[in-house]
Amino acid sequence: MTSPVYRVTKLTRGSDLGAFDCGEPAYNEWLVQHAANAVEAGSSMVYLLLEQMNPGAQERVAGYYAICPTVVVRDDMPKSLRRGVLRAAPAWLLAKLALDRSLRGDKDHQWGAQLLREALEKIVASVDLGGGQIIVVDADNPGLIGWYSSQGFKSTGGQNLRLYMKVATARRYLEQK
Ligand SMILES: CC(C)(COP(=O)(O)OP(=O)(O)OC[C@H]1O[C@@H](n2cnc3c(N)ncnc32)[C@H](O)[C@@H]1OP(=O)(O)O)[C@@H](O)C(=O)NCCC(=O)NCCS
Repeated sequence: MTSPVYRVTKLTRGSDLGAFDCGEPAYNEWLVQHAANAVEAGSSMVYLLLEQMNPGAQERVAGYYAICPTVVVRDDMPKSLRRGVLRAAPAWLLAKLALDRSLRGDKDHQWGAQLLREALEKIVASVDLGGGQIIVVDADNPGLIGWYSSQGFKSTGGQNLRLYMKVATARRYLEQK
């Protein structure tokens, strides 16, 4: 029996996206209806996690993420992260991150953490080319705050679903795991 093979690639128009289902309709729809336009407009870059079950078999989309440059207001950040950060800090937004239901909740492989790691690698490589101090993600749902916190992001607490990570922390995260 062969093991599935995975690779990450940039989304291109014509990618077969229709079968992807992460369990969150808004994330499925964004991928199918908006992702290619976002890439063409330059508002974000979208990467696909492709899965191939057997050699020669058609690949399917097993996950995706989207990143884009942004600016973060230092005073909105958790106090513990503010040191050394500009008042209007150059930053990167992890705008989307989603896994197909077939891979979610796998405690052995931790595909979500692996996909996040992939996204952080892309962001850190982008920082090395063009700068940036902070990585930010909007959890969209209170149920995800715990998960992002377990991956090293810090929240300001309360109703705010935005979480932050210093780029320097992301570098350490990538070195360690
Ligand atoms: C985020 C994600 C990639 C993590 O994948 P994973 O590592 O396999 O982890 P899980 O799917 O088990 O989710 C981790 C936790 O977040 C929760 N969670 C995940 N997506 C959630 C959502 N949309 N709403 C509420 N809670 C959510 C899970 O219930 C789980 O909680 P638990 O640890 O208390 O059981 C995956 O959950 C996913 O694709 N979710 C749907 C898309 C989404 O909401 N993305 C958020 C981008 S901000």
